[in-house]
Amino acid sequence: MRILMLLCLLLPISVQAGADPKLGKPLHDKQCVACHVKLLGGDGSAMYTRKPRLINNAVALGQRVAACSAQTGAGWFPEDEANVAAWLNQTYYKFK
Ligand code: HEC
Repeated sequence: MRILMLLCLLLPISVQAGADPKLGKPLHDKQCVACHVKLLGGDGSAMYTRKPRLINNAVALGQRVAACSAQTGAGWFPEDEANVAAWLNQTYYKFK
């Protein structure tokens, strides 16, 4: 019984409901933005506002962030990826 209760408490973390955009921004600034700026100029945000965009829903956004962080060897935890995806979504994509 105790164990079940504990699982319920832990569950929200594993489904990343608590993703925090504020924690994602500095990670994105450090690992991601430079390459997008090099490609597109400005502050690099054109990568997320271009038309057509590659990413069309929240699931695809999460997958893209995870794939990019793996490729860049950022060493992020799933929470970090969720926080970055949350920040990108809040700032640019605005998926529900
Ligand atoms: C080495 C360069 C490079 C780095 C580093 C990089 N990206 Fe990208 N990113 C790209 C390129 C190039 C594209 C466009 C891919 C395409 O058009 O097929 C892209 C596209 C994207 C898109 C999709 C944009 C759209 O069309 O909606 C997202 C989201 C994204 N990157 C997130 C990230 C995140 C998060 C990181 C950091 C973990 C990151 N990128 C690091 C080069 C990079």
